[in-house]
Amino acid sequence: MSLEVKNITKTFTTSSGDVTVLKDVSFTISNGEFVSIIGKSGSGKSTLLSILGALDSPTSGSIVVDDANIEKLKGHEQTKYRAKKIGFVFQQYNLVPNLTALENVVLALEFGGYPAASRVDRATALLAAVGIEDDQLTRRPSRLSGGQQQRVSIARALANEPAYILADEPTGNLDSVTGKKIFSLLHDLSRKQNTTIVVVTHDLDIAGKTDKTFTLVDGKITTKTRS
Ligand SMILES: Nc1ncnc2c1ncn2[C@@H]1O[C@H](COP(=O)(O)OP(=O)(O)OP(=O)(O)O)[C@@H](O)[C@H]1O
Ligand SMILES: [Mg+2]
Repeated sequence: MSLEVKNITKTFTTSSGDVTVLKDVSFTISNGEFVSIIGKSGSGKSTLLSILGALDSPTSGSIVVDDANIEKLKGHEQTKYRAKKIGFVFQQYNLVPNLTALENVVLALEFGGYPAASRVDRATALLAAVGIEDDQLTRRPSRLSGGQQQRVSIARALANEPAYILADEPTGNLDSVTGKKIFSLLHDLSRKQNTTIVVVTHDLDIAGKTDKTFTLVDGKITTKTRS
């Protein structure tokens, strides 16, 4: 099991011309590895993560996940790939606005085919694990702080025990103590459940504690591996 990126290029066509954000990027991430992606604002971190999660497609190149070429999957197959294998934490959280914190996580469990009878219990436990308090469970996102919404989106990503967690600045809105807790939660998942984790971060402290760091500069990636 691994995630293999081969010669990916991504070009956006805009009214002011073409912008190539990723230039012939290749790397492999092994099962259970904890990887960070760093780089300046606008360097293409979110673009790369979206491509790994099949939320966007590369202009050229391929992504092979557990022996399947995800950029070649048809629409409904990509949806299945995401639902079954990927937990995605969006930079802007993307919670469903008219659902409560609890309902947002329950909905993810429903999509993942989790037994109906135990969805609420599991969602409650996941939200507790990321530090959401009981009185916040029944609040809609607009009545939660940014950091609380961020943690609900992390609980949602963990819901179906995905093999891959792709998280875009998952601690970006958290104080350092809460950020460290979330980081160690993710770290535990990679060590104990062999979950593969890719986090985009601006926090060099966090990046320095991951197995491998990819740095994006001018569309190219350099890799630093820690033993
Ligand atoms: N849909 C799009 N159309 C045109 N340009 C885009 C599109 N999405 C992203 N870009 C451009 O691609 C570049 C990379 O964007 P991306 O969101 O991946 O950066 P980032 O590294 O995640 O930045 P940040 O740290 O600010 O989140 C930026 O210059 C951005 O303007
Ligand atoms: Mg981004």
